[in-house]
Amino acid sequence: MAGSQESLTPDPRFIGKKKGPGAYRKPHKRMYHFHNFARAYRSWLVPYVKSRIFSREFRPVLSFLYTDLNCNIDCHYCYTNNKVPGMTRQVAEDSVDWLRSTGCRVLAYMGGEPLLRKRFIVDLTHYAVQRGFFVYLPTNGILLDQDFIDEIGEAGVSTINLAVDAIDRRDGLPKYFERIKPQFEYLVQQEHQYGYITFLNINITESNAEDVRRLTEIAHEYGIATDYHINEPPLIRYDTFKHEEDGGWIMEEQYQVVDGVIDWLIQKNLEGYTMVNSLEHLKNMKKFIRHQLPSWPCQAGQMTMIIRLDGSFAPCFELYGDEEDWGNIYDGPKFDSIRLTERKLTCSPHCLSTCNFQGYHYTRSSLYSLQWVAKHAYAHFMGVS
Ligand SMILES: C[S@@+](CC[C@H](N)C(=O)[O-])C[C@H]1O[C@@H](n2cnc3c(N)ncnc32)[C@H](O)[C@@H]1O
Ligand code: SF4
Ligand code: SF4
Repeated sequence: MAGSQESLTPDPRFIGKKKGPGAYRKPHKRMYHFHNFARAYRSWLVPYVKSRIFSREFRPVLSFLYTDLNCNIDCHYCYTNNKVPGMTRQVAEDSVDWLRSTGCRVLAYMGGEPLLRKRFIVDLTHYAVQRGFFVYLPTNGILLDQDFIDEIGEAGVSTINLAVDAIDRRDGLPKYFERIKPQFEYLVQQEHQYGYITFLNINITESNAEDVRRLTEIAHEYGIATDYHINEPPLIRYDTFKHEEDGGWIMEEQYQVVDGVIDWLIQKNLEGYTMVNSLEHLKNMKKFIRHQLPSWPCQAGQMTMIIRLDGSFAPCFELYGDEEDWGNIYDGPKFDSIRLTERKLTCSPHCLSTCNFQGYHYTRSSLYSLQWVAKHAYAHFMGVS
C-alpha cells in the first residue's frame, strides 16, 4: 500500500472530538443531533408503526429508486454497471408521488452512479423533500464537488453514503479514499450547516481486509459512521457482467483473513464505533462466506422494495433482473406474499443484503426500532453504536 500515513491524518478542522475511551464525537451542536433524531422518527418510525397497524395494506418503509445503471468506474464485483438510458424525470416524480400515497417516507437513490446526472438528483431531491421524504444518496464520490455538496445540502438531503473500498488504488477496487479525500472533508465540514449525515460504505472483499480496518479508523476519527457489505456474487446471471471470474469473491483460502477483519469489526462495534450494521449481521458474514447461512426472514417486497428505471418493481437489489412481474408505479404492486415467501426460502441462504438484514433486525421489537432512530441522532445513547 503506497499511501503515506501523513496524507491520511485528518485535518483538525474536521476531526471529531474525543470523549471517553476510544470514542470520537462530531463537534456539532445538540440541535444537529436533535434534528436528525426528529427526522428519523418522522420518516422511519412513524411509517413503520403505521405499516404494522395497517398490516393488510402495502406500505413499504424504504424504497430504492434506480435513477441510472451507468457508472463512471468499474468495480469488478458490481453487476449494475450497464450502458442504458437513465430514469426519466416523469417516472422519477411519479415514483415519489406513488410512494407517498403508500405512506413510504424514505427514498434511497440507487444505481449505477447517481451523480452522473447531478441536476436531475438535485431537482428530484427538492421534489421529494418538499413531499416529506428522508432522502438517502449513495455515491462513489468521484463526481462530488463543493458546488454539488452545497446544492444537495440546500435541497435537504438526509444522508450521503460515500462508498470506498480501499485506501489507495487497487486492482478491481477503483473506489479508494485518496481519490476522494478533499470531497470527503468538505462533506464532513458542511454536515452541520445542512444537517445531513455522512457515512462511509465499505464492501469487504477477498483482498481489502487491511483497508477495511484503516477506513474504519479514518471514519471513526472524523466522527462519522460506517456501513459494511460483504461481497456477494450475483444471484442472477447478467450477460453484461464482465467480471464473473475476478469480482473479488471470497474463497476458502481467504476465510481466515476475512474472519479476522469481521472479528475486529465486532470488537470495534462493542467498543462504541458507530456502525449501521448490527452485531448479528457482522457475525452472519462468516456463515455467509462459507455458504452456511440459514434462511432468514427478509422483508424485501414488504418493508422495502426497488423501483427500476422504467418504474417497474422488484423486491430488492439482488433481484433487479428478475423476470417475474412484481407490478409498477402505474398499475400498483404485485408482491404476493406466498410468491415472496417461496422465493426467499431459496434466495435468502445465498444473500446477506445489508439493508434488508438491518430491516429485519431493527423491526423485531419496539426497542430495536427505537435503537435505529437513535442511531440517526448519532448520540451513542441507549447503548447504540
Ligand atoms: C451498486 S452501488 C450504487 C451506488 C454507488 N455507485 C456506490 O458505489 O455506492 C451501491 C452499493 O452496492 C455495493 N455493491 C455492489 N456490488 C456488490 C456486491 N457484489 N456485493 C456486495 N455489495 C455490492 C457497493 O459497494 C455500493 O456500496
Ligand atoms: S459499485 Fe457503484 S461505483 Fe462501483 S461500479 Fe457499481 S455503481 Fe459504479
Ligand atoms: S433474501 Fe436477498 S435476494 Fe432474497 S428477497 Fe431478500 S434481499 Fe432479495
